Amino acid sequence: MYEQLLNINNRPQPFSIYTADTLWTDPHIAQQMLKTHLDQNTDLASRRLPFIEASVAWLQQRFNIGPGTRLADFGCGPGLYTTRLAQLGAEVTGIDFSENSLRYARETAVSHNLPIDYIHTNYLQFQSDKRFDLITLIFCDFCALSPVQRQTLLGIFREHLADGGAIVLDVHSLVEFERFEEGASYGRNQSGNFWTNEDYFSFINQLKYEDEHITLDKYSIFTPTRSFEIYNWLQHFDRESLATEFAASGLVITDWHANVAGEPFDPQSPTMAIVAEKR
Ligand SMILES: C[S@@+](CC[C@H](N)C(=O)[O-])C[C@H]1O[C@@H](n2cnc3c(N)ncnc32)[C@H](O)[C@@H]1O
Repeated sequence: MYEQLLNINNRPQPFSIYTADTLWTDPHIAQQMLKTHLDQNTDLASRRLPFIEASVAWLQQRFNIGPGTRLADFGCGPGLYTTRLAQLGAEVTGIDFSENSLRYARETAVSHNLPIDYIHTNYLQFQSDKRFDLITLIFCDFCALSPVQRQTLLGIFREHLADGGAIVLDVHSLVEFERFEEGASYGRNQSGNFWTNEDYFSFINQLKYEDEHITLDKYSIFTPTRSFEIYNWLQHFDRESLATEFAASGLVITDWHANVAGEPFDPQSPTMAIVAEKR
């Protein structure tokens, strides 16, 4: 028991364990995630619809999106952006490894008669002959990836950009990092039936890596039949660290904003959004 508690409360090396696939594709958790994406009382999995509408309006105006614009949304989830972007006439590709979210996205596309190409894959392995005028990665997904994974994804973006194409993504800023507090809690069925329909005990450990600007929310779940862990890592960026990563992949950041609705850059904002191009 002591050894187990030691393990639960340890401080793992940053990004040493990747569990995003469990978080998004475990059949039970994926269903809960879909409900969370669509829940208009929370911004936990997707932002709420007024923000999404504002974001699509900004993207349309900034990138002149219309018939013929080739667009790829990485981590498209249930298609809250792809549906609206396709309604502008763009040729939209949505990429996600959550089959459950893609099923919802595909059904929405059929019901709106939209020819969206949804691709079920890990975006870190995405390969296509298509080239895109705009590539998006929305809701700070970039922050959940390790440095190596981020370089892989930026390489994939660069390879799939059409000449003159652009990337838009958002990240957590150091403002958000400063707000994060370490903590630990333990309880029975702490998150209701989010993790499982079984009875469970859970430990939640919140860790902060001061030098690296990384935070970790670690969930250790114990049910009568199994135990599992979820590691939610988040890298936080300042402008210099983000620009350096993009430059290492042959990309240059051309615009800085507070968020993907195109609001002006604000040093007090918990997020930053960027537009980047091939160098
Ligand atoms: C925070 S949600 C955001 C969804 C959507 N962009 C939005 O804002 O509504 C992250 C999405 O990325 C997907 N995702 C995370 N890692 C992925 C990976 N390696 N490959 C493919 N999809 C991934 C998840 O399944 C989930 O749908």
